[in-house]
Amino acid sequence: MYRTHTCGELRASHAGQAVTLAGWVHRRRDHGGVAFFDLRDRAGIVQVTINPDLAKDVLDLVANVRFEWVLQIEGTVHKRPAGMENPKMETGEIEIIAKNITVLNPSKTLPFMVSGENDLPDENTRLKYRYLDLRRERMTRNMILRHKVVKFMRDYLDKEGFIEVETPIMFKATPEGARDYLVPSRIYPGQFYALPQSPQQLKQLLMVAGLDKYFQIARCFRDEDLRGDRQPEFTQLDLEMSFVHRDDVLKVVEDLYTAMLPAVAPNKKLLSSPWPKFSYREVVEKYGTDKPDLRFGTELVDVSEVFAKSEFKVFKSALEAGGVVKCIVAPKSADMSRREVDALTESAKALGAKGLATLAVTAEGPKGTAAKFVTPDEVEALRTQTKAGEGDLILFAADARPVVNKVLGGLRLIFRDKLNLADKDVMAFAWVVDFPMFAWNEEEQRWDAEHHPFTMPQLADLDKFDTDPGSILSDAYDMVCNGYEVASGSIRIHRRDIQNKIFQMLGHKDEDIQAKFGHMLEAFEYGAPPHGGMAPGIDRLVMLLADEINIREVIAFPKNQNGRDVMADAPSEVEPKQLKELHIKIVE
Ligand code: AMO
Ligand code: AMP
Repeated sequence: MYRTHTCGELRASHAGQAVTLAGWVHRRRDHGGVAFFDLRDRAGIVQVTINPDLAKDVLDLVANVRFEWVLQIEGTVHKRPAGMENPKMETGEIEIIAKNITVLNPSKTLPFMVSGENDLPDENTRLKYRYLDLRRERMTRNMILRHKVVKFMRDYLDKEGFIEVETPIMFKATPEGARDYLVPSRIYPGQFYALPQSPQQLKQLLMVAGLDKYFQIARCFRDEDLRGDRQPEFTQLDLEMSFVHRDDVLKVVEDLYTAMLPAVAPNKKLLSSPWPKFSYREVVEKYGTDKPDLRFGTELVDVSEVFAKSEFKVFKSALEAGGVVKCIVAPKSADMSRREVDALTESAKALGAKGLATLAVTAEGPKGTAAKFVTPDEVEALRTQTKAGEGDLILFAADARPVVNKVLGGLRLIFRDKLNLADKDVMAFAWVVDFPMFAWNEEEQRWDAEHHPFTMPQLADLDKFDTDPGSILSDAYDMVCNGYEVASGSIRIHRRDIQNKIFQMLGHKDEDIQAKFGHMLEAFEYGAPPHGGMAPGIDRLVMLLADEINIREVIAFPKNQNGRDVMADAPSEVEPKQLKELHIKIVE
C-alpha cells in the first residue's frame, strides 16, 4: 500500500494514528539536527518532522532529499505543542513524526519553483512545463473548480431530464463565423472533414430525432484570432430543448447557474436574482457594448438635447451630421491631471474617437477642455440629467451613434479598473435579448447572420425581409457576466421555407445551400419540432469564478497566445509519407 491517507486530510482528530503518506517535497528546513519537510499531494500539505534518532541509513537519505522528490513516509500523527500550530495550514494543528522514509523517485531541479506565487517565469515557460505548473496550488485549485462546475452541470441537467449525447468531432463545416480546422481524408483524396465550431447542426438534428432535452460538455474548434478569452479549442455546455420558447431556455440556465454558484464558489455573490434582461438596443445605449459589466454604474447618458443649440463646434458638427453627444460621469475624478486626461484622450482615439471633451465639476465652476464652450444653462441641465456632483469629471464623445457608444463603453471600463469600481466577488449575470437578425458586411457588401443562420427571426418582423432587413430582430439571446459574453443561444428555425429565405438573404446560391446544408433542410421536412437552445462557455465561466483574467489559466493544456502548444511543440511538421497518403503537397 503506497498510502493510508492523503497529506491534506490529516487533522488533530488523527493524533496518535500510524499513517503512511506519499507525495512531493514542497519545502524543507533544517533546525539543529531536526529536518522538516512539507509533504504535498493534491489534497494539501502536511509537515513531516525527522528527528535525529532515526536509523543512520534513513538520515543519510534525508540529507540528500531535495525539492519535488517523491517520498513515501511512514510515521505517527502528533498534535503540535501549544503555540506551535500553524493556522495558515489546514493541517497546521498536527505534524507527522517520521519513522521511515522511502524515496519513490528523485527529481531534477525544477525550471521554476512551484511552491509559491512569486518568481513565476514567463507564460511560455509555464506552458512548456505545464505538468509542473499544474502542481502549483492555484492551478490545482483551478482544475478542481472546473471539475466541480462540470460535475454540477451534469448532475443538475440529468435531474432536469436532459440526456448527454456525444456528437462527432470529425464532421462538416458549420458556420459559426470563424475559419474551420480541416482534417484531410486519406480514403477520399481532396476531401476534408471539418472540426465542429460547435455542435449546432447536430444538436438541432437530435431534436428532430425526438431526444427532447440534450446537453453535452462539448469541445469546439475555431480558427480565429486569439485573445485572453479565446482559445482555438474551448468547451461549451451545449444544450438544446424541444417545444420551448425563449424564456423556457433562459430559465433552465438561470436556475442552473443560480443553484451552482453557492455549491462551487461560495465566495461569489449574484448581483441580482432574477437576473436583469435588456434588449440589445437598450444595453448598447446604456453601456456602450452588448456585453456590459453591470457591477457598477457610470452609464452612458445621451445629452444631445442639452447641446441642441450649442455653439461648441465639436458638438454642433456631430449633431448636424445626424450623430449624438453622449457622456459618462467619472466619480471623484475632477482633479485628474492634464497627463491623465491626455492618456484618456489617446485611449478614446484608439477606440475610434476624434477627441475627448471633458468637464470637471468643481467648487470654482466648470473646468476642462469643454469648459469655455458650455453655457451656465447647459451646465445646469447636464448636472440635472447626469446627476454629476462636485468633484466629478464628465467625459463627452460626439460622433455617429455607434462610434460614441464604443468610445464611452471603452472608457467606462478604463474607469472601472482605474477607480476599482467593480467588486470582484460579484457575479453580475444578465440576459441580452432582441438582437438584430443581420449585420451588414461592408467588405463583402452583403448581410451576415448576427448569431448564426439557424436563428429564428422574430415573427412580427417577417414582412421586413424585402424592405428593411437591417431592422429585423431575431430570437437570439446572450448571457453576459462582468463584461464577458458567457453564453449565446437562440430559438431555431424549424420551417424549411424560412430557413431557405435566410440562406438566400445571406447570399448563398441554391446549389451551395444544397451542398452545405442539404442534410439540415431535408431533416426539417420530416417533422422537426419547434426548438431552441444555448451554449454557455465553460472556460470563461470558470475563469471568472477563479478570479483569473485569462482562460488559459483554467485550461489544463492550452495553446499559447500564438496558438502553439509549446509543451509538445504542435503544430509540427509530419513525415513526407503521411502527407503522401493524405494526397497533400506543401506549397512554400
Ligand atoms: P457562440 O459562438 O456565441 O454560440 O458561442 C457560445 C459561447 O462559447 C464561448 N466561446 C468561446 N470560449 C472560448 N474561446 C472561444 N474561441 C470561444 N468562442 C465562443 C462564449 C460564447 O458565449 N452554437 C452556438 C450556441 C447556440 O446557438 O446554441 C454557439 O456556439 O462563452
Ligand atoms: P478642438 O476644438 O478640435 O481642439 O476640440 C476641443 C476639445 O474637444 C478637445 O478636448 C478635443 O479632444 C475634443 N473633441 C474633439 N473632437 C471630439 C469628439 N468627436 N467628441 C468629443 N470630444 C471631441
